[in-house]
Amino acid sequence: MAFSELFLDELVRRNDIVDVVSQYVHLTKKSGNNLFGLCPFHSEKTPSFSVNIERQIYHCFGCGAGGGVINFIREIENLTYVDAVHFLAKRAGLTVPDDTVSQEVRNRRARLLELNREAARFFYEALKSPGGEAAREYLARRSITPDFATRFGIGFAPDSWSALSDAMIKSGYSTRDLLDAGLIKKSAKTRGGFYDTFRNRLMFPVIDVRGNVVGFSGRLLGDGEPKYLNSSDTPVFKKSAHLFGLNLAKKTKLGTLLLVEGNIDVVKLHQAGFDGAVASLGTALAEEQVQLLSRYTKNVIIAYDGDAAGAKAAERALSLMEKSDMRVHVLRLKGAKDPDEFIEKFGRDAFANLLDNVENHIEYRITTLLGKHALETDEGRLGFLKEATQMLSNIPNAVEREIYAKRVAERAGVSSDAVLSEVKKAYNARRRANERRRQARERNVRAAVQPKSRDIRYKNEVSALAEEGVIRLLVLDCELFGVLEEYDFSESEFTSDYLRRIYDMIKLRYEAHAEITPSLIANALDGAEAAHFTQFMSKPESLSRADMAMRDYIKKIRAAKVVTQAAEDPEAALLRIVRDKSGCGGYENGT
Ligand code: GTP
Ligand code: MN
Repeated sequence: MAFSELFLDELVRRNDIVDVVSQYVHLTKKSGNNLFGLCPFHSEKTPSFSVNIERQIYHCFGCGAGGGVINFIREIENLTYVDAVHFLAKRAGLTVPDDTVSQEVRNRRARLLELNREAARFFYEALKSPGGEAAREYLARRSITPDFATRFGIGFAPDSWSALSDAMIKSGYSTRDLLDAGLIKKSAKTRGGFYDTFRNRLMFPVIDVRGNVVGFSGRLLGDGEPKYLNSSDTPVFKKSAHLFGLNLAKKTKLGTLLLVEGNIDVVKLHQAGFDGAVASLGTALAEEQVQLLSRYTKNVIIAYDGDAAGAKAAERALSLMEKSDMRVHVLRLKGAKDPDEFIEKFGRDAFANLLDNVENHIEYRITTLLGKHALETDEGRLGFLKEATQMLSNIPNAVEREIYAKRVAERAGVSSDAVLSEVKKAYNARRRANERRRQARERNVRAAVQPKSRDIRYKNEVSALAEEGVIRLLVLDCELFGVLEEYDFSESEFTSDYLRRIYDMIKLRYEAHAEITPSLIANALDGAEAAHFTQFMSKPESLSRADMAMRDYIKKIRAAKVVTQAAEDPEAALLRIVRDKSGCGGYENGT
């Protein structure tokens, strides 16, 4: 999203770089307009990090880091540009102008976030109060230190039907606010009654990367069901789009995020120094969470519970992440059910040791298969080989396929050539199946594009579809001829004679300053031709971004042409693409 210059100016003006940097760096020595401190971006003993008061920029003579206040926040908080802007806006009490969301919705969201924050504060106070004794004992029993409890904002929801709501209503929030935030529920028994959602639970606030309290996760102090209660989805919370602990983990210096299952695991790992730990909120990892992760790291280690459910969840997470370009490793827990228990039993060094010996996704799967089949028996080896070749045939990279095929062969005690040839067979079968599916899809698309009448046949459906678009736009707004000129579009680029004729008609009228309307054109065509013209003219076309649409159509026509030529002579087409710099690739991005 682009922010207006006016807003950005205001944002920078209201966030003095000295104030902002001082929250992270102890700035002391002053020389002229510069303040100096120890660089937060690399380790050093003598200050080489400077902030220029007048120019409102920072620069490190040691590591070369530098920029303005937005850059600084991006770096130090590990935020995207947009998030850094929001971060600073919040800091300065500015509202980020946002034309995609209505003012009303924004106000509503702000209100709910404010309520959540206040509720978190209430839970936090309740934990410190005499009534929080049992919860404090529970934390101690789980060896969570008060320091780390505070760092995660852990609190306690009193064992009461209305303690939270009474307090919040007193602070000026309405029942509607509380309902929308998922903090109270409608009572089925008493009409018009409500009760607090979270009661007698240890409360983990879910904090997003911008520092907003978006929801809660509450754990029972003892045994019972349900063990965890998470906020339902609200206007500010979507379980599948947040990760517990990411607000802290995004700052890890380890370069790797550690994906675990439990909230307690996250807290305990941070406490043991593994500060990249995050957890999905009780749900299986979702696509959105993978995207969120990938914004902060390309390296993820999955450390799920050691049981069957954990293995299944890990497999699911693996396949999700393989689709993105992340490097994923899996940590295998032995002798403990989860990271928390492991560290309690064997200590942090033992866990660090596990981290050093993580398996990449393929190794992990091979190990899993090895555990599943008894290799002493022929049957077991066969089963192992069958599953392993299928798994290996999924690897897109040929070199990797070969390396792991060798490893699988070794483990099963068979020749690696045999395994490799099975993998190749499975790989080719898979490719053929994919190709068949692709062709079937394409046939369907093409069939849908072809005019009903046999008199007009499109030779190149993909191009013709875009050519129809060009005509549609021109009829709607003939000034768009300007875009065609800009891109040197020539009528010879039409692959359909029928469409080219229509184009010529429009162009003649345009040059003669004559009126251009669908009915005038249709009337000049005969039966089937007119029918098809009216049909494609009635497809929706937005005029608000018509010039962009026109460019896209030109691009599609040109791309279709390249594809067709490639089908005839791949090499010649490639050469053309390489040589033809004025082609269609250049104007899509950026403009
Ligand atoms: P401990 O048993 O206290 O060690 O809990 P944990 O934090 O290690 O969690 P556990 O491994 O048992 O569960 C993993 C995660 O699944 C939790 O952090 C919750 O987010 C979620 N979860 C566990 N139990 C429930 C439940 O009963 N309901 C819901 N909605 N989520 C749950
Ligand atoms: Mn646990």
